[in-house]
Amino acid sequence: MPSTKNPFGTVYETEKLIGLDLIRASEAAALNCYKWIGKGEKEKADFDATDAIRGMLNLVEMRGVCQIGEGIKDEAPGIFVGEKLGTWTEGSPYVSIALDPIDGTTLTSKGLPGALSVLAAAKMTNSEEQALAAVPSHYMEKIAIGPTVKEGTGTIRFDVPVEQNLEVIALKLGKRLRDLCVCLLDRPRHDQLIADIRRTGAAIRLIGDGDVAGAIAPSQPDSGVDVYMGIGGAPEAVLAAAAIKCIGGEMLCRIWPKNEEERKSLAEQGYDDKAISKIYMCEDLARGEGIVFAATGITDSALLRGVKVNGNTAMTHSVVMRARSRTVRYVKAYHDLTRKTIRLHTGEAHRLL
Ligand code: FBP
Repeated sequence: MPSTKNPFGTVYETEKLIGLDLIRASEAAALNCYKWIGKGEKEKADFDATDAIRGMLNLVEMRGVCQIGEGIKDEAPGIFVGEKLGTWTEGSPYVSIALDPIDGTTLTSKGLPGALSVLAAAKMTNSEEQALAAVPSHYMEKIAIGPTVKEGTGTIRFDVPVEQNLEVIALKLGKRLRDLCVCLLDRPRHDQLIADIRRTGAAIRLIGDGDVAGAIAPSQPDSGVDVYMGIGGAPEAVLAAAAIKCIGGEMLCRIWPKNEEERKSLAEQGYDDKAISKIYMCEDLARGEGIVFAATGITDSALLRGVKVNGNTAMTHSVVMRARSRTVRYVKAYHDLTRKTIRLHTGEAHRLL
């Protein structure tokens, strides 16, 4: 990634500079959808978060390309794959962007914990490079583990009984099987997996939505989650992979066709059974060292607290991480709502009050 000199002559890699821009974008999304928390309006919340995240990204001096957007997964109004983001000023860095203005739109609309606004950026040498993988399916099967489980001998695999994987994890963590905590999305498609895990005696933390945070959890020392498993969104897998690279864990993923129709469409795109069974690791989904991940809490979660408004002040909690240095920074911001403006993509900057 090209570097920039500040007025004092210090050389900064662009990925260091872009971290704050990413946080400003996720903060804007969280602040702009705050009014919809608990209001039963997930499309409106998503629209306002998207409008704000894009409005803010439009101001960033970069040649950004959206490689993971909202369009493919649920056809919500959103930022589509291939769209240009940033100023596209001559000489500015090429950056691949993955984003989910709200991971947890239903959580937001129901006022439930766990909703985040998330972005990842990866350096590119030109606008064609695919630094963040374009996964062709709606869903991926995932197993995410933390740094301790990643290291040393003994491996986690898809094609073995879940008990075998849990035994490896328990051994590496020095825990009994019954003391392990497995996080999964609460979905009927996981009924068999849940039954198999229960038979081992391990505990299960079922989440309603928001599997970016779920997949990051095993890499966070205080999350209480030892492994994340199950089938969730493919875009969310790429976003989580970017974060996991920054904190040293690992995630195995593979394409999970949601029905025969998708299987056929994948085959037409050249994804035969062999290609579908490919195992993607974090490095395959978010390539290279020039990866930055940022998130802001919308509602409270183990990763980040949600937006709090008190009188004319809003408080946001965000995190930004870099793969190269593995620095993780938490940013608590106070926003004076009598002055704060949110730059929208669809219109002028507007005040939240
Ligand atoms: P949205 O915020 O777009 O609704 O996605 C939430 C989410 O729970 C993701 O975190 C997860 O990857 C995906 O949906 C799971 O999809 P599904 O709800 O179809 O099982």
